[in-house]
Amino acid sequence: MSKAAEVVALDRQHVWHPYTQEMTAPSPVPISHAQGATLHGMDGRDYLDLISSWWVTTHGHGHPVIAQAIAQQASQLEQVIFAGFTHEPAVRLASELVKRLPPGLSRVFYSDNGSTAVEAALKMACQYWLNQGQQRTRIVVCQGGYHGDTVGAMSMGRSSGFFDAYESLLFQVDTIPFPATWMGDDRVEEKEAAALKALDDYIDQHAGECMALLVEPLVQGAAGLRMCRREFLQGVAQRLKQAGILLIFDEVMTGFGRTGSLFACQKAEVTPDIICLAKGLTAGFLPVSATVCRQEIYQAFLGETFEKAFSHGHSFTANPIGCAAGVASLQLFETENTLQRIAAIEAIHTRRLTELSTHPRLCRPRITGSIAAFELFQAETGYDSGVVRRMKEFFLQRGMLMRPLGGVIYLLPPYCITAEELNRAWDAVAESLDQVP
Ligand SMILES: Cc1ncc(COP(=O)(O)O)c(C=O)c1O
Repeated sequence: MSKAAEVVALDRQHVWHPYTQEMTAPSPVPISHAQGATLHGMDGRDYLDLISSWWVTTHGHGHPVIAQAIAQQASQLEQVIFAGFTHEPAVRLASELVKRLPPGLSRVFYSDNGSTAVEAALKMACQYWLNQGQQRTRIVVCQGGYHGDTVGAMSMGRSSGFFDAYESLLFQVDTIPFPATWMGDDRVEEKEAAALKALDDYIDQHAGECMALLVEPLVQGAAGLRMCRREFLQGVAQRLKQAGILLIFDEVMTGFGRTGSLFACQKAEVTPDIICLAKGLTAGFLPVSATVCRQEIYQAFLGETFEKAFSHGHSFTANPIGCAAGVASLQLFETENTLQRIAAIEAIHTRRLTELSTHPRLCRPRITGSIAAFELFQAETGYDSGVVRRMKEFFLQRGMLMRPLGGVIYLLPPYCITAEELNRAWDAVAESLDQVP
């Protein structure tokens, strides 16, 4: 038996994969190593990673600077409890993050993945009001938003449609529309006005009860790479400020360059009260996340007794190895002119998607930074629909990792992808429109 076959056989015997119907899914592809934008299969085949391995990989797989930072940190201090202790990688990462975030976002709370970064933000918002003598019980989110798979994050992402089986576990959350838009959309202003009107009505009814609004800024990820304009976010921020409701940005997917700025909030020119960061925080190497808030929120947790303290934490909070990867990653954005690379990716996306946009099967083309997406006209939707399976298989056969979401085809590559690789991917996308039923 080959090594690849042995790995797959053991996998099938003992392992349970995420978001997978284990009975009908094809066998998983065993990967031995990865470099740049390429995953190398144990069977000798290569796969171009066009979704940054679930949106985590930023600079590229196996980047030697990050690998080196991790190796060095692992031999020095691999882990230490973060209550009552601290270490250089955590404080350096916090200060480097704060330097790059909009002014005012100055206090970093670490956890270990996107879902827990969102859970921390939710609990922070809840207790922020409680510590000031106000019991606020409502939270409002945008329709379709996805914020992770823990129970609080699922509740806030209930309208994404991923969690029907867990309905009985979820708590009540309010929603307003998300004014999704695309190239050539002539109804965008109307949709934005309707969404903002819904927010106005909501504020009129519930301002004093609502702790926060949570939104994925500029791009909703799992909802199908749905994009909105900065004007909508600016309208939301202005209304919440007036109403005294906190604004939380979930930048778990949009952070670290995806939208063309280091953070989507910068591109939108909106400073939230709390921002959730994960995935690309460590360049996609390790699970570390951060919930960063304004100083005023942090101050509301100060007091003489433990009662007011933030009663939250995880075993791996601020893991030193992950934090060291984060510091190295932030430096790379400068030393490798990463935002310029992202602009070059966006230029290729724009040229290729514009060329394709008259194809009769394609609708709602859209681009923000390194993310390009469109919808298949009248496709079956659904996470595991037939067209999704056929598309995945088509791209795998051509040595490409793609993962359409319902009828949405998207490219979200690591920033090291070359022009040749990206154009090859677009060639395959064009072929898929003609060939995949
Ligand atoms: C916007 C957003 N928030 C939160 C999460 C959850 O992150 P994690 O899978 O690291 O828990 C995701 C994951 O895709 C996401 O896209």
